[in-house]
Amino acid sequence: MSTTAPLTPRDETPETRKPPTGEPVFSVDGLWKVFGSKAHRVPADPELAALPAAELRARTGCTAAVRDVSFDVRKGEVFVVMGLSGSGKSTLVRCLTRLIEPTAGTIAIDGEDVRAMDRGRLRELRRHRAAMVFQHFGLLPHRTVLDNVAYGLEIQGLGKAARRERAAEVVAKVGLEGMEHRRPGQLSGGQRQRVGLARALAVDPEVLLFDEPFSALDPLIRRDMQEEVVRLHREEGRTMVFITHDLSEALKLGDRIALMRDGRVVQLGTPEEIVGSPADDYVREFVRDVPREQVMTVRTAMRPASADESGSGPALPPGATVSEAIEAVARTGSPARVVEDGRCLGVVDHERLLGVVAGTEQPKGVV
Ligand SMILES: Nc1ncnc2c1ncn2[C@@H]1O[C@H](COP(=O)(O)OP(=O)(O)OP(=O)(O)O)[C@@H](O)[C@H]1O
Ligand SMILES: [Mg+2]
Repeated sequence: MSTTAPLTPRDETPETRKPPTGEPVFSVDGLWKVFGSKAHRVPADPELAALPAAELRARTGCTAAVRDVSFDVRKGEVFVVMGLSGSGKSTLVRCLTRLIEPTAGTIAIDGEDVRAMDRGRLRELRRHRAAMVFQHFGLLPHRTVLDNVAYGLEIQGLGKAARRERAAEVVAKVGLEGMEHRRPGQLSGGQRQRVGLARALAVDPEVLLFDEPFSALDPLIRRDMQEEVVRLHREEGRTMVFITHDLSEALKLGDRIALMRDGRVVQLGTPEEIVGSPADDYVREFVRDVPREQVMTVRTAMRPASADESGSGPALPPGATVSEAIEAVARTGSPARVVEDGRCLGVVDHERLLGVVAGTEQPKGVV
């Protein structure tokens, strides 16, 4: 839950910070994963399904790691799954490609039923469509960087020359040029993580799934890697599902965040919605120390402009942060206009901005 690192905006151009509204890539509905014998009876029985974790364990010996979870991952978004240790994040994301078999519910990728896939189709799903980047990179120690990256392509049956060419391209993309012939043992933790990332990227998957890939890295390297993900996402627009237990990482990377607690999603929304309108006391406590002005935007903070205000004062895009607006208002001494496509949507003045910082202005659109 550290919020000590500055929350650098996930993009320099605030307009592009809007969450994508694309088609769903993954659609998850009523998903359950219960570990233990006769796990199926838990979601099927409303009384068992409603029991708190400890009681369920005492009564049935089962652990409900994911409880009745529904969401869509939209094309082109970074969808973050956040929560404390044991809240069910890894189980949830592994269910997406059935690395863990779900107990109940439906999962579709591009409309195709994942739970109905046979082994061949599943292999295809994991290799080509939804590649996973793990925390422990799983690199082959005796192979070079290039061959580690080419590994997934080898499995796909691509010829040697073609896969080396593709691997070299991806190695350069993740900033490892010149290290192609080293072995994993000759790399730092951050560099190894880049190899893991390159290996997943090499197969050009529709979705990249990250399970806390950076949690073992020291803070500076971790920030480098976060920026790498933001850059890759900006350049390629690839859909990403990113697990983290770190709130500042979630706010930095996520277009939308699903906050999990005890197997349930307690809130699903943009960083701004989660920070600005926590769904319950748990979420409120979770986001308490977040510098609101770095997350909230002027789209939320603005009020209607009066006739004489709509033509003067500094102009900001709706995605500009309150912190950016405070700077503009302080610099010019007048309210700032929120302008989109040449149209003035509203204004933010001193009072509105300070209201956000103090937590008295609530965002309007809440999922
Ligand atoms: N194979 C298993 N058998 C029984 N219980 C399991 C199994 N795998 C996970 N669990 C339990 O399910 C719950 C969710 O675990 P999960 O690994 O999904 O949490 P997480 O949010 O990823 O945690 P972390 O941040 O520590 O990785 C935990 O209570 C865990 O003990
Ligand atoms: Mg985990």
